[in-house]
Amino acid sequence: MTVLPLRPDLQGCEPYGAPELDVPVRLNVNENPYPPSPAVAADIAAAVGRAAAGLNRYPDRDFPALRSALADYLDAEAGVRLDWRQIWAANGSNEVMLQVLQAFGGPGRSCLSFTPTYSMYPEYARDTFTRYVTVARREDFTLDTDAVAAAIERERPAVVILASPNNPTGTALPLDDVAAILEAARGHGPDDAAAGPDPADCVVVVDEAYGEFRRPGVPSALELLARTDAAGAHRYPHLAVTRTMSKAFGMAGLRLGYLAGSRELVDMLRIVRLPYHLSAVSQAAALAALAHREELMSQVASLREERDALVTWLRAQGWTAYESDANFVLFGPFADREAVWQGLLDRGVLIRVVGPDGYLRVCVGTPQEMERFRDALVHVTTGADTADTKENNA
Ligand SMILES: Cc1ncc(COP(=O)(O)O)c(C=O)c1O
Repeated sequence: MTVLPLRPDLQGCEPYGAPELDVPVRLNVNENPYPPSPAVAADIAAAVGRAAAGLNRYPDRDFPALRSALADYLDAEAGVRLDWRQIWAANGSNEVMLQVLQAFGGPGRSCLSFTPTYSMYPEYARDTFTRYVTVARREDFTLDTDAVAAAIERERPAVVILASPNNPTGTALPLDDVAAILEAARGHGPDDAAAGPDPADCVVVVDEAYGEFRRPGVPSALELLARTDAAGAHRYPHLAVTRTMSKAFGMAGLRLGYLAGSRELVDMLRIVRLPYHLSAVSQAAALAALAHREELMSQVASLREERDALVTWLRAQGWTAYESDANFVLFGPFADREAVWQGLLDRGVLIRVVGPDGYLRVCVGTPQEMERFRDALVHVTTGADTADTKENNA
């Protein structure tokens, strides 16, 4: 029998991913439910067509045009003006964060995060031989910054990952908490890194994949990137903020995620990226999509309203539903969450079993999709169900 030499630490592991099921109402992977308009789709197709004429050549390896367009977008979205050399991009923010771990993690080093949180973080750590260390969030899923500072001092992690808004809880971090963690990270990085007398800092990644859904008045950690000291130098050169076009921007199929940070940090990521990792097709499509940012983002306000209405409705049904700054809501508790998930699926509604025991996560869809979700949940949890509805929706 053939035995392939899979790494011992990967033996028995399954590929990551939510079930991909073809059902009418898909509310399980936090996508934007609105497809691009025909006009936007046509523009993207035309841009890809132009790129196709030059596909005999490798793409632009450092893609300054796309990085400039992303910097313009961040300026418009968060009011923070960054130089294009402070932006980096890859095939989804997953790849960007893997590159962060490739550059800063590694054997003998650790990555610190705060549970419950996004379940890909331990995979980036595993894939880069970085030890993954977690500290529990408070009961309301906020962070105890003193406990975070103590963990940083104890662990001296190379990378700290803070998801804000957090997945699967929807919790956004106050800027003061992020600033306190950045201060705690100063000089507390791994002790094998320092080339001179100064100790290394930890790299602090604020994962803002859902940043655009934050409620009015909730700031973005991008604002901290704009802060300088008296001499005009970056106050937080060890901060990286990751974003994606997959969520609010409605381009999950494009696979384009990006990072904003100091030039120094971005240049270190360039060491580990594969040459030409971002295809000419991706670059052209992303640039064309960014030119339509207002139209693509036009549904964000109504998705936020739909989310807040969902929290109110779930609470009125007697469930705990957490306030969310993202496009999903964590709710429960259910004695048997798998049974509720299956009951919803039987009625054509796919959500996600994730997070603390007994809880489920539902993403905000169109008003029609939310109506189907509400009807199905009432049926499943009150037993107000008939064999007929089950069959009709299967
Ligand atoms: C918290 C968080 N970060 C990052 C990602 C990765 O997104 P992408 O790779 O599509 O940019 C996700 C996707 O669900 C997420 O929930």
